[in-house]
Amino acid sequence: MMHNILILGGYGNTGRPIAELLLQETNCRVVLAGRNRKKAEAAVSELNDRFAGDRTTAAVVDAADVVSLNKAMTGVDLVVVASSTAAYVEQVATAALDAGIDYCDMQYSTAKLAVLQGMAARIQAKGRCFITDGGFHPGLPAVLVRGIAPRFDRLDSARVGSVIKIDWRGLEFSPATVEEMVTEFLDFKMLAFEEGEWRQTSWWSMWKPLTMDFGEPFGKQYCVPMFLEEMRSLPERYPTLHDTGFFVGGFNWFVDWVVMPVGLPLLKLSPRRMTQPVGRLMEWGLKRFSKPPYEALLKLEAEGMRAGERQRIDLILSHPDGYLFTAIPVVACLLQYLDGSARRSGLWLQAHFVEPERMLADMARLGVGVRLSGQ
Ligand SMILES: NC(=O)c1ccc[n+]([C@@H]2O[C@H](COP(=O)([O-])OP(=O)(O)OC[C@H]3O[C@@H](n4cnc5c(N)ncnc54)[C@H](OP(=O)(O)O)[C@@H]3O)[C@@H](O)[C@H]2O)c1
Repeated sequence: MMHNILILGGYGNTGRPIAELLLQETNCRVVLAGRNRKKAEAAVSELNDRFAGDRTTAAVVDAADVVSLNKAMTGVDLVVVASSTAAYVEQVATAALDAGIDYCDMQYSTAKLAVLQGMAARIQAKGRCFITDGGFHPGLPAVLVRGIAPRFDRLDSARVGSVIKIDWRGLEFSPATVEEMVTEFLDFKMLAFEEGEWRQTSWWSMWKPLTMDFGEPFGKQYCVPMFLEEMRSLPERYPTLHDTGFFVGGFNWFVDWVVMPVGLPLLKLSPRRMTQPVGRLMEWGLKRFSKPPYEALLKLEAEGMRAGERQRIDLILSHPDGYLFTAIPVVACLLQYLDGSARRSGLWLQAHFVEPERMLADMARLGVGVRLSGQ
């Protein structure tokens, strides 16, 4: 079957490589959508030059405008939400349900999840498949835990950390993306599952943060807990697990130690007035102070018992380009959806929707470095 896929944010940093990989890996047709016709058309013409069959078209869509959403979703099978539009999730998801199409998104947003969870019964009743929290993080940490768990008779501890170093200088973002990124800091919960319970870490612990050794080229990096919905069910799924969580590394010294401590209290005080100035300072800090080496890494440290002996396994995923490292898991997940092997109705987190072994194999084939040690 040839699928028609609408990509909101299709010419953005995340949407564009998703479109390329879909054209490369499948026979689907893609529609690149956003608010800027020129940018959409320029990306379409490049992709049609590179991939046979003129399978890419452009559409002008504003996620805030229901009429444009309804129009764009006519004749489409699936909408991939790679746009910084978490604030409009209700419109986008409702338009998808009204059009009778499936849905996949990749924003980190507690508010977005709450809206989708409120729609879960309708999604199920309409027989639609909605995949949320796609991408790298959210999207992959719980896949790593699910993938490695069968190698243990008893899984005691499974912590996942990430370090992302990107050359922000060469990147252009939609202003909506910077605002969404800053708003997400207000959503950020520093929760990890420690000694059998979910515990909140305070910002004061930043003065003595946890470190994780990522090996070459980054070595030891400090990380803070970042609650991801996909980690919530792991202690129930693996009842012996007493320590788990996702831990995120810093951006660079200026953003971590100047923008965050100054910006967060200002944002909490007056989110509406402070979002733009803090966003601008953040963007400037990312572009001015990020330095090589550039790479994105995700590391699982798992411990437990196997055949009566203690065992420790480390699984490291890496890619030199942080945006490709977001697009690859989305496309690897969609490969399982598109061939029908994983598609089922309901609301799913990407990390629990996919079959982990195939996900890891497909990501490796698409260019993600996968290193396993201590098996
Ligand atoms: N899960 C993960 O691992 C992960 C990793 C990276 C990024 N993300 C998420 O992916 C999203 C995109 O990030 P990015 O870095 O690719 O941003 P970006 O390069 O700025 O692209 C954002 C895209 O969204 C479009 N857009 C913004 N507002 C829109 C609206 N109201 N209606 C329609 N389109 C709109 C933009 O086009 P116009 O502004 O021209 O309309 C642009 O094409 C963000 O939500 C980000 O948090 C997730």
